[in-house]
Amino acid sequence: MAGTYMKESTTTTIEDLYANDPTVVLNGTPDKANGIRPEPFSRYGQPLPKEWIPLYKKPMRTPTRRLRVVCIGASIAAMNLAHKVYHEHHLDSSGSDIVDLCFYEANEEIGGTWLVNTYPGVACDVPAHIYTFPFEPNPDWSTFYATGGEILEYFVKTVQKYDLDRDVKLGHRVQGAVFDETTGRWNLEVESTAGIVKDSCDILVSARGFLSKWRWPSIPGLHDFKGHLCHSAIWDKAFEWTGKRIGVIGNGSSAIQILPQVIEKAEHVTNFIRSPTYITPGLGSSIIGGQTQYTYTEDEKRKFREDPGELKKYRKRIQAGSNKAFDMFVKHSQAQEDGREQTSKMMLNKLGGDEDLARKLTPAYEVGCRRATPGPGYLEAFTRENVSLVTDGIEKIEAVGVRTVDGKLYELDAIVCATGFDVSHRPPYKQIGRAGINLSEKWKDEPTSYLSLAVDGMPNFFMFSGPNAPVGHGSLMAGLGWSADYICQWAIKMAEEDILWVEPKGEVVEEFNAYADEIMQGVRALMCHVLEHPLTLFQVDGKVTAVWAGSAIGFHDMIERIRPEDFEIRYRSKNRFRFMGNGRTKMEYDPKADLAFYLHK
Ligand SMILES: Cc1cc2nc3c(=O)[nH]c(=O)nc-3n(C[C@H](O)[C@H](O)[C@H](O)COP(=O)(O)OP(=O)(O)OC[C@H]3O[C@@H](n4cnc5c(N)ncnc54)[C@H](O)[C@@H]3O)c2cc1C
Ligand SMILES: NC(=O)c1ccc[n+]([C@@H]2O[C@H](COP(=O)([O-])OP(=O)(O)OC[C@H]3O[C@@H](n4cnc5c(N)ncnc54)[C@H](OP(=O)(O)O)[C@@H]3O)[C@@H](O)[C@H]2O)c1
Repeated sequence: MAGTYMKESTTTTIEDLYANDPTVVLNGTPDKANGIRPEPFSRYGQPLPKEWIPLYKKPMRTPTRRLRVVCIGASIAAMNLAHKVYHEHHLDSSGSDIVDLCFYEANEEIGGTWLVNTYPGVACDVPAHIYTFPFEPNPDWSTFYATGGEILEYFVKTVQKYDLDRDVKLGHRVQGAVFDETTGRWNLEVESTAGIVKDSCDILVSARGFLSKWRWPSIPGLHDFKGHLCHSAIWDKAFEWTGKRIGVIGNGSSAIQILPQVIEKAEHVTNFIRSPTYITPGLGSSIIGGQTQYTYTEDEKRKFREDPGELKKYRKRIQAGSNKAFDMFVKHSQAQEDGREQTSKMMLNKLGGDEDLARKLTPAYEVGCRRATPGPGYLEAFTRENVSLVTDGIEKIEAVGVRTVDGKLYELDAIVCATGFDVSHRPPYKQIGRAGINLSEKWKDEPTSYLSLAVDGMPNFFMFSGPNAPVGHGSLMAGLGWSADYICQWAIKMAEEDILWVEPKGEVVEEFNAYADEIMQGVRALMCHVLEHPLTLFQVDGKVTAVWAGSAIGFHDMIERIRPEDFEIRYRSKNRFRFMGNGRTKMEYDPKADLAFYLHK
């Protein structure tokens, strides 16, 4: 008897199953979330409950709409997201078709940091093999630490290989974003050569880079200088420094890469610094025997090409070492004390034993408070006749050079401001979230975030490398991939569960920040108080908002899965269970599906 109910047909298709199911609407997506009040408005002799809605005639988790996701920027973070959407989670039309992606990129070309920063010596100071898209190991890196040019080349090649830029609109700068609570959408203003374009999206992602807005130093008279004035991030390729007197302001990662490049041909180079910084051995340099650089042989590259397992093993070794190096950031740890002692000794050694220079260049705080900066050739430069170090503060800049507070004038032909970026996180455009909250205003004094990825008051908004992201933990690459995964998880949940908007709860953000600060006390925060001004990655006598409080692996653990309990969630329907559809799963309509998948033994 039962057999008559259990006919197995080999010719049944999903379409047949849908067509024969009266609880499925084949054409169109019924989207009247709350339905029309039926007459009579009762069931079982009782009025229908206020939560009543009509049946959503689709299998469970069938989205009621495609989510339009707009990403600001199309550089490394953004292309990680593109890869996740197109090739890993298949959320585009080639797969579940729940996401319609668009990237607005202000520049006319892709490449972000590596397109823009072309100063002499620009390079990655983490090993190339871990500054690599997680999905595209590169057996062909020329050197252990790659140049900016080679990174850009790799980036463009990878983007083309995976067609990641198919939805990128170049020369489009997002100029405004306002959230509409009723529609759950961001209304955008985007500037292009065609004028201002209006757009809107369900999810707004910021991948605009925490180091993409370069900054002139606030020094009186800067623009009175009559010689060549430039910033490291807008290097003039035509600038010829041979035989010139050059002033380099700053000793951050950019300055220490530029200085060794210009000393050979310049008549004289003066480096104006206002605080010392540790010049550390390069991350992972023990793998290349403590050298400052290593060029891979053709044989090694061939081996990596032919044996991906070998390349993976090598990459894992570097990555594990980088994660282990976090020990050095733990306050009062042996690793930190050793790091400080060894780095100070190494610096003195590179300075030719010059105690006076070493005193001026070596910080009083522990290694790891400021971003560790390996600078091959930087310290050695000060042992040359044509290089000098000035630690007296700059009073002003005059037509012919730099005047320091002791009244001395340094006459110069060119001034290179390697003075960094606006790291305030405040968007340089209007971003208005729920209830009129302006993100720039909100972050006026201190940028706070939910795990660096979201902000209370900004629904349906996610960020790469927001406040307290792991940006001082070795290569940023892996973290960007994890963040992209995190964003995809929300996109899937929002689409499948018919969600209008999500936003981290204010009290959760406060709790997170208070606790992260507690972790930070044991890591690097207190040391950072000794810095004399707030212009580097850290604040003086304030919370550390620039970096993630724990390790990179800890960041992975925290964001591997979304925690919806930390979020305010609004649904498109008055009944959140509308996503249950007709109560059956899509799988049940697949004639080939294993309908006993849960029997394991
Ligand atoms: C000189 C330099 C060296 C670095 N070296 C390392 C390193 O060794 N290791 C490491 O891990 N990290 C390094 N970094 C950090 C580096 O920025 C990141 O690794 C990486 O580039 C971040 O990628 P991103 O996509 O987040 O940002 P970016 O590469 O900065 O890209 C952001 C993009 O957003 C676009 N954009 C900005 N605003 C808008 C807007 N309003 N509308 C549209 N588009 C917009 C920009 O044009 C840009 O293309 C370095 C940074 C600099 C500046
Ligand atoms: N991986 C790499 O190889 C690499 C290379 C370049 C950049 N980067 C990344 O880019 C970030 C920025 O690096 P960056 O070197 O461009 O900038 P930075 O680290 O912010 O350094 C800026 C330098 O300019 C000095 N400065 C700023 N304003 C000044 C003023 N008004 N007067 C005098 N000096 C002033 C700062 O002095 P104080 O220190 O006293 O503030 C500092 O030495 C880094 O943190 C890093 O993440 C990485």
